[in-house]
Formats: sequence, C-alpha cells, structure tokens
Amino acid sequence: MRVKTARYKRIQHQLMELFLKSDDPLSRMTTVNALLYHKMEGFFWVGFYMLKAGRLCVGPYQGPLACLELPKDKGVCWEAINMGKTIVVPDVHQFHGHIACDSRSKSEIVVPFRDGSGMITGVLDIDSDRISNFDHLDAEQLEHIVALISA
Ligand code: SME
Repeated sequence: MRVKTARYKRIQHQLMELFLKSDDPLSRMTTVNALLYHKMEGFFWVGFYMLKAGRLCVGPYQGPLACLELPKDKGVCWEAINMGKTIVVPDVHQFHGHIACDSRSKSEIVVPFRDGSGMITGVLDIDSDRISNFDHLDAEQLEHIVALISA
C-alpha cells in the first residue's frame, strides 16, 4: 500500500471514531479539514464551498485566505458540481477558467459533497503547492472521507 493510502486509511479510522461524538455536519467538515491539512503532504488549502440558493460560498477551511464566493459555472469547484463527480487537476494553469484564490496553487482536487438524501450541497476542495499532487487514489479516498460526513 502506498504511504499516502495508508495515511488516508488512518485518517478515515480517526474520523469514524470522532464522528461517533457528533453528527453535526459543520463540526464534521471542520474536523476533516483539520486532519487533512495537518496530516497530508502538500495540502496547503483544504476546505468546503457550499451551495446557498444557487451561489457557491466558502465554508469551513484551513489554509490561507480564500475567495468568499465563486462565480457561477466557472472554475474547478463548479465543474465538479455541474458534472456531479470528482475533478482532479494536475496543473491548474492548464484548466480553462481555473479560479486562483492563491497564486501558490499548482494542482487541485474537488470532490462533490452530498447530504443524507444524496443531493450535492457543496464540495470539498483541496489545493496543493505541488504539481500533480493528486490522482485517482486521492479521488477514491477523499470520496470515502466526504461520504463519512453524511453517514
Ligand atoms: N480553484 C477553485 C477556487 C477555490 S480555491 O482553490 C480555494 C476553483 O477553480 O473553483
């Protein structure tokens, strides 16, 4: 197992333990951010953008200051929502319409966040200051982590 996968597995176990203490989505999202930001290498921004009456607004996050609201149907986060699937961007400069909240961002992954009924209500967005820091394994593991929030 890759070091990265083993790390994700540890985080998942830790989250399952922690989530026994609270089913509050905001508390759970904040806890996901703290663990991913501090335990994973090269994750320099970890946070959620949430849909609010058709607008995509920043939610809880860890890392440098981010855009408060993302212009509709532009950028990676909206792409993940509109496509209804995880988007991996190995090089943000090659993604047409990418929104750079911080110029240090080089690669990015965005995972749709679904509520208990399966509706997409936001996204988990992670930025890295390393090129190609995310692949299908990150997608798989992060989808599992995001699903734990609404479980
Ligand atoms: N890059 C994102 C915007 C959010 S920041 O990365 C925190 C996008 O293109 O949607």
